[in-house]
Amino acid sequence: MATITDQEITIIQPDDWHLHLRDNDMLAETVPATARCFSRAIVMPNLVPPVTNAALALEYQERIEKAIPAGSNFSPLMTLYLTNDTTEEDIKAAKAAGVLASKLYPAGATTNSASGVSSLTAMYPVFQAMSDHGMLLLIHGEVTENHVDIFDREKEFIEQHLKGIVENFPKLKVVLEHITTKDAAEFVSAASANVAATITPQHLLLNRNDLLVGGIKPHNYCLPVLKRNIHQQALRETVATGSNKFFLGTDSAPHEQSKKENACGCAGCYSAWSAIELYAQVFDELDALDKFEGFASLHGADFYGVPRNTNTITLRRESWDIPQAIDLPNGNPIVPFFAGQTLSWKLQD
Ligand code: DOR
Ligand code: ZN
Repeated sequence: MATITDQEITIIQPDDWHLHLRDNDMLAETVPATARCFSRAIVMPNLVPPVTNAALALEYQERIEKAIPAGSNFSPLMTLYLTNDTTEEDIKAAKAAGVLASKLYPAGATTNSASGVSSLTAMYPVFQAMSDHGMLLLIHGEVTENHVDIFDREKEFIEQHLKGIVENFPKLKVVLEHITTKDAAEFVSAASANVAATITPQHLLLNRNDLLVGGIKPHNYCLPVLKRNIHQQALRETVATGSNKFFLGTDSAPHEQSKKENACGCAGCYSAWSAIELYAQVFDELDALDKFEGFASLHGADFYGVPRNTNTITLRRESWDIPQAIDLPNGNPIVPFFAGQTLSWKLQD
C-alpha cells in the first residue's frame, strides 16, 4: 500500500513492461539505467538478427545478466520475436524455457521490424499455441500500408486486425503496447479482462506539437508517433481512472545522438534514466498520485500472472535536471528523453 505525502511517495518497486536494452557493449549503459529503479523488465526482442527462439532468448538473457550491477535485484523477462516462420513448437519450447511473451511486429512497422509478420491471419495457429501454453501476445499495433496516414495507423490496426485476434482467441492474453490514441484506450477499456495496454511517458507528457512546432524535435520522435492533443488527454484521463488494464511500459529505446539528429532519424526515446520520475510528474499533474502505484507496480504483474514485488522505492519532491547528453560505453553520446528539462520528483537511493 503506497504512502503519499506532499514531499514523499513510497510505492512497491515498479516493473517496466516494455523495454529495449539492445545488446553487447550497450548493455553496460542500459541495464544499470533500468536496474536503478525497476525490479523486472520485459525485454523487447528486436535485435539484429532478432530473438526468434528459446536458445537465442536464453543466450541474450545471459548477456543481460552479466551487466546487472552488484547488489541489484533486477531480472530481465525475455520475449520471442514472431516471424512468418515461427512454429507452434517454437512457442512450446520458449514457454518451457521461461519466455513469458512473444512480440508481434507487423513487418516494416518500426525499428528492426523487417523480419516481422506479413500476414496476421497466417499466424493464427501460432496464436492458438500461445493461448494453449499461456504465453502472452505483445503487439506493436500499427498497420504498415503506404496509403494509411501515419497518424491513423494504430486506429486502423485495431479495426483491421486486433478485433479479429481478440475475438478468435478469447483466452489469449494480449497487450497492446505503447498505446497512443483515444481509440486504443477505449478499445482496451471495453475489451475482456485478457486485453491490456502499456503506456509510455512520452505519450502521456507530449503530443505531436512537441514533435513538429518550432522545428522538428528528433528526440521526441518515436513509433507509434505522437498524436494530437486530444489523444494525449485521453491517455492521461485513462491512467487517472486507475483501471487495472493499463500499466507502465517505458518503451525506452536508445539510439545514439547522431542516429537521431539525422536526415533519416531513428524512432525511439531513451527514457530509462528518468522513467519513474517522468511518470510521477504525470500522476502528480493529474492529481492522481493515489493511482500511481497500481499503474507502476501492481497491474502489470497481475496481468502477467507473476508475483507482485514486495520491497518499496521512495521518491522525494526535489527539483533536478535531466542531463543534456550521456556518454555510451562506445564513447558516443546519446541524448536522453526530456534532456535539459527539470523534474520535480527524484528517486532516492
Ligand atoms: O520508437 C520506437 N523505437 N518504437 C518502436 O516500436 C521500436 C523502438 C526501437 O527499437 O528503437
Ligand atoms: Zn518498443
